[in-house]
This record gives sequence, structure tokens and C-alpha cells, in this order.
Amino acid sequence: MKMARKKKERKENRYHRLLTNHSRGGRRVETLQTKEGRMDILEAIYARHSVRQYKDLPIAEETAAELERLIRECNEESGLKIQLIQNDPECFRTLFAHYGRFKNANHYITIVGPKDLPDLSERGGYYGEKLVLEAQRLGLRTCWVAGSYGRSKCKAVVGKDEKIVCVISIGYGENDGRQHWNKALAKVCNVPEAEMPEWFREGVRAAMAAPTAVNQQRFTISLKDGEPVITAPKGVLTMLDLGIVKYNFEAASGRKCR
Ligand SMILES: Cc1cc2nc3c(=O)[nH]c(=O)nc-3n(C[C@H](O)[C@H](O)[C@H](O)COP(=O)(O)O)c2cc1C
Repeated sequence: MKMARKKKERKENRYHRLLTNHSRGGRRVETLQTKEGRMDILEAIYARHSVRQYKDLPIAEETAAELERLIRECNEESGLKIQLIQNDPECFRTLFAHYGRFKNANHYITIVGPKDLPDLSERGGYYGEKLVLEAQRLGLRTCWVAGSYGRSKCKAVVGKDEKIVCVISIGYGENDGRQHWNKALAKVCNVPEAEMPEWFREGVRAAMAAPTAVNQQRFTISLKDGEPVITAPKGVLTMLDLGIVKYNFEAASGRKCR
């Protein structure tokens, strides 16, 4: 009787999430799965495209509350100070944003963290992408933005030992964006397709679907001792991209990247 009630309660909770620990090859990766209701993480990876035009609408209260909860979780895990700023059109009232064709970009997520964190950009990319995909699952659309916003107008709370890495515009899309152009597989991965294990192929596909600054896709995926390794040349944007790409790879393959 008690069991049946519990089962029913869980079924009724559309946002019930299962935290699954994949333990393969001695490395553990946590991925989120939904029981029902929301699209799964793979669907979100392939449905996500940059969207710069939004409807002039506030984010629904329960959606914003879910985002805030996810942000808290990410901050606890990462040591970052990611924030959701709502109803602030000023941040995107700049010439760059205008030329970038941003419209009704009234809400944004700011990636803020300690200046002295050696992997601040990569970490920001990793946790930001986790939020971008969760936002997609919640029916929102997003765009990573490192240049086309007013840094001085940004309402994020930034301590004296912290800095803004970038922002992510977020809202109800006027469109769903479109698939970006991709480099040839051999330019981003040095494992021949015929030799890829299935999980690795899934990871590579998801990595290639990831957003990167000006769609540069400057990363290399390889296999070392059976483990996935993703590298990128040094630079703030390439490190941000690296974190984003690693998150996509891990979420799709269930394997932790080096
Ligand atoms: C780190 C980063 C910074 C970006 N900065 C900007 C930006 O300043 N302005 C803009 O319009 N798009 C920006 N983008 C969006 C990219 O242009 C976009 O992700 C890329 O062209 C791939 O397209 P997709 O996101 O639709 O897959 C940025 C993306 C990333 C990952």
C-alpha cells in the first residue's frame, strides 16, 4: 500500500529527476535523467541552438525557481557565483548587441567566479552549459555571450576578488535557432570513426553540437588508455569552449573527460 502510494507520488511529479551514477572504467560520472515530462539530455543537446530574439515575457515563476535551484546546486559543486538576472534589458542595450541582432534579451545568467581560480573559464563553461541544457529542457532558449553585452551594465554581484567570465542570455525564444556549420570530424577528433567505441561516438557527436565562440570549434578529442581526453589551445574563449564541449561529451557518453 505504502509502496503503491510512493510510486504514484513519484509519477505525478513531472520534474522527478533520477541521479544516475555511471561507473565505467573506474571513473564515475553523474548524469541527470528525467522520469517523464521534460526532454532528456540528449534531445536537449541536439535541440539547442543559439537564440538571440526573445518574446517580451517574464520567466514563469516556477521555471525561474527551478533555474535558481539548479544554479545553487552548480555553485555549491563548483565554487562559482553564477547568478540569474531577470527583467534587466539594460545589459543588452549596446551597439554590439544591436548588431548581434539581440531582441528582448531581458534575462541573463552571469558566470562569475574567483579571479585566481586557474581553471575559471573552463569551469564556467562546464557549469554554464549544464544550465543551458537544463534551460532548454525547461522550454527556454539561450545564447552564450562573451562580447555582445555591456559588461559595465551587468547587474551581477561581483566581489573584489571575483570577475565576470561571460553571460548567457535566456528567455522564451521567438525561434529555435538553427544547426551550426560543423568542421570535418577528422579536424576535431583524432580517432578514426571505424575505431570508435559506441559511447565515444555518442560523446563526439554531442561535442560537435556544442556552442563555441564564433563557432570556432578549436578542440581536439582523443582516446588515451581507453579514456576520453579533450584539449584546446590556451585562451579565455577556447577554455570556456573547452568546458562547454566537455560537458556535452560527458552528458552524452556517461564518461568523465580529462
Ligand atoms: C564562449 C562563447 C561566447 C560567445 N559569444 C557570443 C557573442 O558575444 N555574441 C553572439 O552573438 N554570440 C556569441 N556566442 C554564440 C556563438 O556564436 C554560437 O554558439 C556559435 O556560432 C554556434 O552556434 P550555436 O550556438 O547555434 O550552435 C558565443 C558562444 C560561446 C560558446
